[in-house]
Amino acid sequence: MEYTITTCNLTKNFGSFTAVDNINLNIQPGEICAFLGPNGAGKTTAIRMLCGILEPSSGTGSVLGYDLVKSPENIKQKLGYMSQKFSLYLDLSVLENLDFYAGIYRISGKIRHTRIEEMIHLADLQGREKDLVGNLSQGFKQRLALSCAIISDPQVIFLDEPTSGVSPAARRSFFNIIQEEAGRGKTIIVSTHFMDEAERCGQIAFFNEGKLLALDNPDNLKKNAIQGNIYRIEVENPVHELDRIAGLPGVIDANLHGRSLHVLLGPQGDVDLLIKSTSVVPELIEPTLEDVFLALARKRERRRHEPNSVGH
Ligand SMILES: Nc1ncnc2c1ncn2[C@@H]1O[C@H](COP(=O)(O)OP(=O)(O)O)[C@@H](O)[C@H]1O
Ligand SMILES: [Mg+2]
Repeated sequence: MEYTITTCNLTKNFGSFTAVDNINLNIQPGEICAFLGPNGAGKTTAIRMLCGILEPSSGTGSVLGYDLVKSPENIKQKLGYMSQKFSLYLDLSVLENLDFYAGIYRISGKIRHTRIEEMIHLADLQGREKDLVGNLSQGFKQRLALSCAIISDPQVIFLDEPTSGVSPAARRSFFNIIQEEAGRGKTIIVSTHFMDEAERCGQIAFFNEGKLLALDNPDNLKKNAIQGNIYRIEVENPVHELDRIAGLPGVIDANLHGRSLHVLLGPQGDVDLLIKSTSVVPELIEPTLEDVFLALARKRERRRHEPNSVGH
């Protein structure tokens, strides 16, 4: 299998600080891969290296067969990139923005007109071509920014937190577009901290403190990352009870989820003890991606504190 995106120990240091730490990725054509992780985890830095914008400190990688270090210019021309602070011209119209990006990507002749039409359609802005972009809602701005980023019909698309700051409905429709593009064979990397969005991706790359904690599909992650069972417990005052329940024998972890607790009971744990100690019947639930992330982060944390650990 030819991977569209592949890296081997890709690393970025800023001075003595390691923002991206030896990540290994393999992403197939037509795949949507979510870069999931908290702020500062290294998602943007990884994306910028994969786009050929930022030079890696060490490690290797390729996108569409082009070497990240040797041919970043080729990569830049071949992909669509929507940055976290996407750049639309607010004082220009919808059409003028698209025309500007068509120019940047050197799309000319008949194709230029066709692509602009298609992108207006994709952003759902038919009839609003002359509207100033500054007057559009955040949701429309985001879809227009995507249209501008992919006007050249690139095979690989990088989207850096494209849906932060838009309504849930706009987020959903934005993701529908992404899935359609993947259906047409495009390979897409999309960073997010929304678990529901990651759930819709074929692959999830979990980032934490510059490291890639896992790369797999959502089902496998849930199956493999958690040893034990997750129970939901509805108690009167979950914040108050959290520490006590986390400290019960057999309990590996307990976290707040809205107004309930998710309790991870290890394989040796005893459900009866939970019942006795809380006076409620815990409900066995499927782990959420959030549970998976917490379990992976905890595993790393534990390894770091083991004697003789080298911190990798
Ligand atoms: N140009 C830079 N110089 C120094 N530190 C940086 C630079 N860019 C990013 N960082 C640091 O690298 C870490 C990862 O940042 P980033 O990749 O933006 O994370 P994310 O996109 O996951 O929020 C952060 O601690 C950030 O402050
Ligand atoms: Mg970022």
